Amino acid sequence: MTFTRRNLFALAATASFAATLAGLGLPVHAAMAADDTVKIGMIQPMTGPFASTGVEAVAGAKQYIADHGDTVAGKKIELVVKDDTGSPNETKRIAQELVVNEGADVLMGFGLTPLAFATAPIASQAKVPMVVTAAATSSITEKSPYIVRTSFTLPQASSAMGEWAAANGIKSVVTLVSDYAPGKDAQDWFVKTFEDKGGKVVEQLTVPLKNPDFSPFLQRVADNKPDAVFVFVPAGVGAQFMKQFRERGLGDAGIKLIGTGDVVDDQIVNDMGDVALGVVSAHHYTAALPSDMNQKFVKDFKAANGGMRPNFMAVGAYDGMALVYHALEKTGGDASGEALIEAMKGLSWESPRGPVSIDPDTRDMVQNIYIDRTEKKDGELYNVPIDTVENVKDPAKAAK
Ligand code: DHB
Repeated sequence: MTFTRRNLFALAATASFAATLAGLGLPVHAAMAADDTVKIGMIQPMTGPFASTGVEAVAGAKQYIADHGDTVAGKKIELVVKDDTGSPNETKRIAQELVVNEGADVLMGFGLTPLAFATAPIASQAKVPMVVTAAATSSITEKSPYIVRTSFTLPQASSAMGEWAAANGIKSVVTLVSDYAPGKDAQDWFVKTFEDKGGKVVEQLTVPLKNPDFSPFLQRVADNKPDAVFVFVPAGVGAQFMKQFRERGLGDAGIKLIGTGDVVDDQIVNDMGDVALGVVSAHHYTAALPSDMNQKFVKDFKAANGGMRPNFMAVGAYDGMALVYHALEKTGGDASGEALIEAMKGLSWESPRGPVSIDPDTRDMVQNIYIDRTEKKDGELYNVPIDTVENVKDPAKAAK
């Protein structure tokens, strides 16, 4: 039997509420968060192949609380972290438990697209805001009117890369992406923008998401002898990709590596070695952004996390918390789902990534996309911004 939060609140008004909950085997005290507390249930892969996403995101959310305190608009913020191991069934089950049994006011996280897709119906049924801080397939925000996203969309980053490549002497490209929804978004939007500007995509390769062996695909790239290979793999996976890219000698053969920033994410780029030098990527965040706000963020985050550098997953979650705080300020502490979602639409603030706002029509972020070149800076590898495309909306939705 499925109970929505709304059902529970309706039941709460009846004398039989406790008996009903007891009958369901639910502890009565745990059914709703206390009135003066706003409970944020953060679901992330904390173990398994995508654990790097969860580790960065949880640290990002905690950094926001450290910077801004745990009270907003008279409400105490309670962050509860759950590990879904990267399995969609787990994400959905945990989301349901958080909403029904633990009285979560907001769901947050969603490290991969399939995890966000699986949970969207729970947000709709329960009328609870679902803040997506990581997953980046364009269509995610269309799966429920309760979804708001603080990460990015692959079309935002890939279209900027397509334009940059065409404008900077690259004429032929092979695309190589992970074989699931964000990979398809990345491929489609790179191909579209690059070819619209006169470039030629000579082959489009898709690589399994789980346990990828890139070698045969890199051989295909080498055989094509393109000017560049455009790559999308999810956060963390770039380490394995770069190792095989070096072993195959593609860089030595004069094939440039371009991509969305996921392949050289800030958690792993410094361990990649010289093979990463000169990679050009497009993304909404790089730890090398020079603003005072970002430099303070990087310094504090590293100090709190044993030297780990914040990557775009950390910033996505930092801004997920910013979104909830600003929305609560706007509602005067009203944490009901409808009020929070309405308050979130159109919000704008300054993030370590630069100025951001929530597009009220799509519930996606409008933000700068930076073109970064991987360079050595103070003895470490960083994705250094060389160009900025300002205030980018999700082009996939603009096109509809
Ligand atoms: C997705 C996951 C990632 O780790 C990433 O870098 C981009 C997108 C996703 O599954 O949507």
